[in-house]
Amino acid sequence: MELINGLAERYSEKFTSPTDALLSELEEYTMKNHAHAHMLSGPVQGKLLEMISRIVRPKRILEVGTFTGYSALCLAGGLQNDGQLHTIELRDEDADLATSFFERSSFKNRIILHRGNALEVIPLLNIEWDLVFIDADKPGYIQYYELTLPVLKRGGVILADNVLFHGDVLEETIKGKSAKAIQAFNEHVAADERVEQVLMTVRDGLMMIIKK
Ligand SMILES: C[S@@+](CC[C@H](N)C(=O)[O-])C[C@H]1O[C@@H](n2cnc3c(N)ncnc32)[C@H](O)[C@@H]1O
Repeated sequence: MELINGLAERYSEKFTSPTDALLSELEEYTMKNHAHAHMLSGPVQGKLLEMISRIVRPKRILEVGTFTGYSALCLAGGLQNDGQLHTIELRDEDADLATSFFERSSFKNRIILHRGNALEVIPLLNIEWDLVFIDADKPGYIQYYELTLPVLKRGGVILADNVLFHGDVLEETIKGKSAKAIQAFNEHVAADERVEQVLMTVRDGLMMIIKK
């Protein structure tokens, strides 16, 4: 299902501030060389992530699902001067590519990439987060949320990507493991009195959650 009208998508991109040269190069490289390039956040969502981060001014950011590093570089744009972004990636080839771009960025000393399964890595990070971006495997979303919410500062923000899951959650009968997992995640958050949330119809759906 095409969620957002293509014309509106292009119009939105046209009137969104341009990305810097490194991000454009990373996007182009991923598009040309990666079989799952559609997973990259892209210029509009990337700018939104950067702006949310600049508003929050986080000291500690956690990203679950690095892929080729695009969203990490966007989120890092709002870090405080002594802030750090921790990002977790399961696949070595993606982690290698992301690292090569982090190394060339002005955030190279402030982005820490952890290789491995986020379910195992998150509990090892003894850190209080200001901003969390959940963007890995969909069946893990509720666990990533439950692992990070207790160690999120009061007033801190969790962002969760793909919460419309290509429109599959809009079907009367939701099919597929990932779409079902996203539906369960959306219902889980909606029923959680510890937070307030807004589901934004940006790209594939982006949920912003604030801890009360
Ligand atoms: C949608 S992509 C992330 C896109 C990236 N955040 C961006 O916007 O450019 C999801 C990534 O999560 C990784 N991933 C999936 N399951 C994971 C897990 N259990 N732990 C860590 N990373 C995982 C995948 O290998 C993939 O690179």
